[in-house]
Amino acid sequence: MINQLIDTAIHQLKYSYTPYSNFKVGAALLAKNGQVYTGCNIENASFSATNCAERTAFFKAVYDGCYDFAAIAVVGGPAGKPVQAQDEPSGPCGVCRQVMAEFCDPDEFLVIHGKTPEDYKQFTLREMLPEGGFPAANKGFFAKPQA
Ligand code: THU
Repeated sequence: MINQLIDTAIHQLKYSYTPYSNFKVGAALLAKNGQVYTGCNIENASFSATNCAERTAFFKAVYDGCYDFAAIAVVGGPAGKPVQAQDEPSGPCGVCRQVMAEFCDPDEFLVIHGKTPEDYKQFTLREMLPEGGFPAANKGFFAKPQA
């Protein structure tokens, strides 16, 4: 399952729009209903308007009415290749971790940093964002659409 998710994330690298950094990132977000939402990073000349691969996947899912997530696989690296074996995989940025905290249970949601489908590290969201504010853990009050 994790291997397949990483493989899907690797396939997203080709959609990544990175004229400024050429650092390409792909993501595959697994919803609890089994649906997979994909994402890539989309850069912008203003730099700060850049959207990371993780947030692209989350925002596609939420637009689709999906709010319950199990795991996300992230791959990336310079020149469009996933990081190489000797490198540390790059983890999601702080903004993306906060977006995950909006929707995901910190002790259940898995963040997978992949190099290859077989070579990866996995963390819970709480490990990625210790002492964070977790609206989704608050009985889903913030994380569900309000009727
Ligand atoms: N980036 C992501 O898409 N996800 C990450 O986890 C880290 C960084 C993007 C943002 C920018 O387009 C490029 O990688 C270099 O930081």
